[in-house]
Amino acid sequence: MSSKRFLTGITTSGTPHLGNYVGSIRPSVRASLKADVESFYFLADYHALIKIDEPSRIQRSTLEIAASWLAAGLDPERVIFYRQSDVPEIPELTWFLTCVTGKGILNRAHAYKASVDKNTSAGDDPDSDVSAGLFMYPVLMGADILMFNAHKVPVGRDQIQHIEMARDMAHSFNHRYGEHFVPPEAEIEDDVATLPGLDGRKMSKSYDNTIPLFAPREQLKKLIASIVTDSSAPGEPKTVEGSALFQIYQAFATPEETTSLRAAYANGIAWGDAKQLVFERIDREIAPMREAYLALLNDPAKIEAILIAGAAKARQIATPFMARLRHAVGLRDLRVQTSNKAAKTAKVAKPVFKQYRELDGKFYFKLLDANSRLLLQSTGFDSPKEAGQTIGLLQTQGASALPGLADKLQNIPAVETTEVGAALQLMTDAE
Ligand code: TRP
Repeated sequence: MSSKRFLTGITTSGTPHLGNYVGSIRPSVRASLKADVESFYFLADYHALIKIDEPSRIQRSTLEIAASWLAAGLDPERVIFYRQSDVPEIPELTWFLTCVTGKGILNRAHAYKASVDKNTSAGDDPDSDVSAGLFMYPVLMGADILMFNAHKVPVGRDQIQHIEMARDMAHSFNHRYGEHFVPPEAEIEDDVATLPGLDGRKMSKSYDNTIPLFAPREQLKKLIASIVTDSSAPGEPKTVEGSALFQIYQAFATPEETTSLRAAYANGIAWGDAKQLVFERIDREIAPMREAYLALLNDPAKIEAILIAGAAKARQIATPFMARLRHAVGLRDLRVQTSNKAAKTAKVAKPVFKQYRELDGKFYFKLLDANSRLLLQSTGFDSPKEAGQTIGLLQTQGASALPGLADKLQNIPAVETTEVGAALQLMTDAE
């Protein structure tokens, strides 16, 4: 299976703005439409608890962000779209990762360090008003990513450090307990990774300089008119460097449109005219989605149902994977003795993969348990390599690979996913 797994989350702590759209929602919706990707999108509501203690705001934001994603074209049939707090395996995995993460690493996390620096320069206690939740933020984020063994995480530059930390967590866990996690990579959309806000600094809730993604047309126009510019008069040439207006335009325009605005700047376009142009260009992209968004906001039951269905899909992966991780760290059924030593010394029969070729010329494999009972039966592959890769995936990811392999395996009634998971686990333990 060559398919790549993409995963991204948005913290449900506010109303989505253009920066979220350009930096996260739009690229991830685009990625979800590509063939050969499996995408995970979630509402990071556990993360929201770190900064927000207003319950109604969390609920409202969850609704708004879910509606924004759906309005932007996310197809919940095609992707796994869920709410973080509907997957209890995530906080459980957070604890496992907490135990393999150095405290010193977390001391260096940007968000935590920024708070400490601010306190220190104000002469306060370094940890004044810093919750342990803020400190642990990167571990929860690591669990989000590693839970689904995502390969690529599309994020803004400010989040790269978190992805690196997740890689470290994957390595430390794998080092102690065997290969369970794929180290993830950040994926940055280069031209438009961060959008400037109204005041020219990064568009961010914390700077109060955002343009809400689905602001009504009139409000959008007003907000764009309020983007800072220099004081050059109409007719005076303007530079695109450092122009927030230009950068925002660039995030929506084609390269040709961008080139022509660049020329207009050089020719001294009046700021008012430039702003009008930028407004119309953005509104052209946003207007159809805005309608879909408003319809969804009026139908919360529909969104709730979509999220519940998404969580069920997510847990088809998370539940067996977590069972495997619990086993790996030693949280085990006391009746089953599977210590490494016992498995190595005892010459008991083990589950095996068998590869073979059929008369149809295709390559197959099956998984038999220790009593030669058939647990898995593949469909035909064109090459032995493909069959081998699929086996490799089962060996490294265990039962969590099963949902992704649905079309490569034949249905065997009376075999439970947990039995397959246990057999795969036994094979890894025995190595
Ligand atoms: N920290 C991200 C943000 O605030 C949200 C987030 C939480 C996330 N978990 C994630 C993003 C996992 C990507 C992957 O923007």
